[in-house]
Amino acid sequence: MKILGISGSPRKGKTTDLLVNEVLKAAGEPTEFVSLAGLQISPCSGCLACVEDNICKIRDDMTGLREKIVEADALVIGAPNYFGHLNGLSHCFLERFYQFRHREADVISGKLGIAVGVGGGMPEPAARDIEKFFEYNQIECLGRALAVGPASCFDCGYGEDCSVGAIYQFYGPGTRITEDITPRLGKQPQAIEQARSLGLKLRERLTLLSR
Ligand SMILES: Cc1cc2nc3c(=O)[nH]c(=O)nc-3n(C[C@H](O)[C@H](O)[C@H](O)COP(=O)(O)O)c2cc1C
Repeated sequence: MKILGISGSPRKGKTTDLLVNEVLKAAGEPTEFVSLAGLQISPCSGCLACVEDNICKIRDDMTGLREKIVEADALVIGAPNYFGHLNGLSHCFLERFYQFRHREADVISGKLGIAVGVGGGMPEPAARDIEKFFEYNQIECLGRALAVGPASCFDCGYGEDCSVGAIYQFYGPGTRITEDITPRLGKQPQAIEQARSLGLKLRERLTLLSR
């Protein structure tokens, strides 16, 4: 029984990566973690060349991921919220699952899934989009893990004075950026707990399936 964890954040080692890994650690099965950061994954072109054999003909970094996805019994997919939806890189990655959906739909249907959503203020939209995607692909979603991560405005150098940035939006004008107000996964024990309990739930389900 194999679990594949995927983080669609373009920022390596940040909150989405960390939260996906919390789920994987608790799941304890043979797991593999893949960060999509830096990978070239085009959107689905809708060419339908995958209809006959369920294999996408676009040659990019998704080609190497295909086998890992097919072999996995469960997928833990995480993404950050960008403008009220999961980010573009994650969307491109998920669009390419179209290759699995023709005729022999069982290439991925019946797998188990966990949705991991992160946002600077609102993590839910990213998890909701992943859940919707699981539903389209007949992947049974065991639940969602959510956490807040620091928006780029905490580090960009202009955050305290930027009237369109997250500091103004979430904390109001005049707010100083301090470690106290910076969201970190380590300060969200309930988020870590949620991720771990989903990992354990996944472990139990996979153990039952392997009997
Ligand atoms: C282009 C862009 C758009 C964003 N839009 C939102 C948003 O609409 N709502 C929100 O809560 N956070 C938003 N964020 C903040 C990210 O979700 C937040 O920084 C999150 O921690 C990113 O995940 P990561 O740290 O794993 O990369 C946005 C960030 C970027 C770069």
